[in-house]
Amino acid sequence: MLLAAISANGVIGRGNRLPWRLRSDLQHFRALTMGRPILMGRKTFLSIGKPLPGRTTIVASRDQSFAAPGIVVAPGLAAALAVARGDALRRGVDEIFVVGGTDIYVQAMAAATRLAITEVHKTVEGDARFPPIDRNAWREIARDEHEGGVGDDAAFAFVTYRRAAAS
Ligand SMILES: NC(=O)c1ccc[n+]([C@@H]2O[C@H](COP(=O)([O-])OP(=O)(O)OC[C@H]3O[C@@H](n4cnc5c(N)ncnc54)[C@H](OP(=O)(O)O)[C@@H]3O)[C@@H](O)[C@H]2O)c1
Repeated sequence: MLLAAISANGVIGRGNRLPWRLRSDLQHFRALTMGRPILMGRKTFLSIGKPLPGRTTIVASRDQSFAAPGIVVAPGLAAALAVARGDALRRGVDEIFVVGGTDIYVQAMAAATRLAITEVHKTVEGDARFPPIDRNAWREIARDEHEGGVGDDAAFAFVTYRRAAAS
């Protein structure tokens, strides 16, 4: 499952940070991923700055010297997915979360079967984008619209896509 928050104009990041404050989405992210493996690129890991508690944090990097306490570094996407699948099996869970950024989403999208997208109802400037969601390849199967609450810069929707059956 790919998990991402995307602005109305397709932006996911600016200067290796999230370009909004969305407390509700951080809570949503936590609830979805808790107890499950999460896979990310090195830049996203550096942006978060630490492993997330209660989840095995698997970080893809081609830099063989890259390491940080509390994470598993994998030298390629296939290796990272293999580590994540092993972790999911050990934990008895059936979901792996690929949590960005752009570089990782672009590579992982072809193998993904579900997308959990937070649509941030706001236009923002940024330098990192989510790859286009091909409406022929993906079906929207759930949508929950929310007004922004305390700590939220914008209204938003939690949207789930499932890969469309091949015709
Ligand atoms: N809105 C959201 O939901 C969301 C979620 C996540 C991230 N973001 C944003 O996205 C931006 C970061 O995205 P990004 O594309 O710049 O970076 P990224 O995807 O987080 O990380 C890229 C790095 O991952 C490693 N990598 C990528 N593919 C690999 C492969 N096949 N094998 C091994 N290592 C691989 C490389 O690390 P090395 O250079 O070490 O080899 C590469 O430089 C930030 O602005 C962040 O805030 C937003």
